[in-house]
Amino acid sequence: MHHSIEVEHLSFSYPDGHPALVDVSLHIAPGEKVALVGPNGAGKSTLVLHLNGILSGDGRVQVCGLEVGEKTLGRVRAAVGLVFQNPDDQLFSPTVYEDVAFGPLYQGLGPEEVVERVASALSAVSMQPYARRVSHHLSVGEKKRIAIATVLSMTPEVLVLDEPTSGLDPRARRSLIHLLCDLPMTMLVSSHDLAMVRELLPRMVIMDEGRIVADGPTQALMQDGRLLEAHGLEMP
Ligand SMILES: Nc1ncnc2c1ncn2[C@@H]1O[C@H](COP(=O)(O)OP(=O)(O)OP(=O)(O)O)[C@@H](O)[C@H]1O
Ligand SMILES: [Mg+2]
Repeated sequence: MHHSIEVEHLSFSYPDGHPALVDVSLHIAPGEKVALVGPNGAGKSTLVLHLNGILSGDGRVQVCGLEVGEKTLGRVRAAVGLVFQNPDDQLFSPTVYEDVAFGPLYQGLGPEEVVERVASALSAVSMQPYARRVSHHLSVGEKKRIAIATVLSMTPEVLVLDEPTSGLDPRARRSLIHLLCDLPMTMLVSSHDLAMVRELLPRMVIMDEGRIVADGPTQALMQDGRLLEAHGLEMP
């Protein structure tokens, strides 16, 4: 039985020499829902970009039993749905429908199945009426929800979300939390929304300056005021 996510001694520096990840190791079992928290610049986005091969550093990254590398990129990206922090990085088609259909079409599904996948992904984020809209004309929160739909339509084994609630209004945030709560897949969610973390994600990983500085039950870590304060976090 393999882990859904297995990161071993991963270090990464950006081309300008800035060390963004320093000896990061993280194991996530199938079905676990894990939060990734820490101050701005801690390395959260850098870490998640390694999980589907957008970045690659020194060390080992495996997802769903696949070693992430050039040869496995297609399978890795089908297995791991990554929602970027900035939805403009995710949406590139003329219409919302085409953006959400892109993954299923790429996976080679038939036309009827694609239509079904798009409908159910849009409905999951309460955006069915937006299918014919122009993606890049949407509001930030609307784009965010469509970006999530583009990944849900691929029914990935692992869902990785980078700041999913930022820019969402309270109702959209609440319905996203309900949606994520109902989804059975393995989840890694980077967020500054510690109230959402407490509600949804039983395990919490804290990063600071490129390192994992704590990893444990959310409930326990949230009670450790000194730990939170040391890493720029506030109890919700
Ligand atoms: N393209 C890049 N080139 C050089 N440095 C970068 C680049 N992208 C990020 N960094 C640096 O790497 C570090 C980690 O950035 P990262 O975006 O992973 O942080 P983060 O934890 O996601 O922060 P935030 O909470 O603001 O989203 C930061 O110091 C950042 O300035
Ligand atoms: Mg980030």
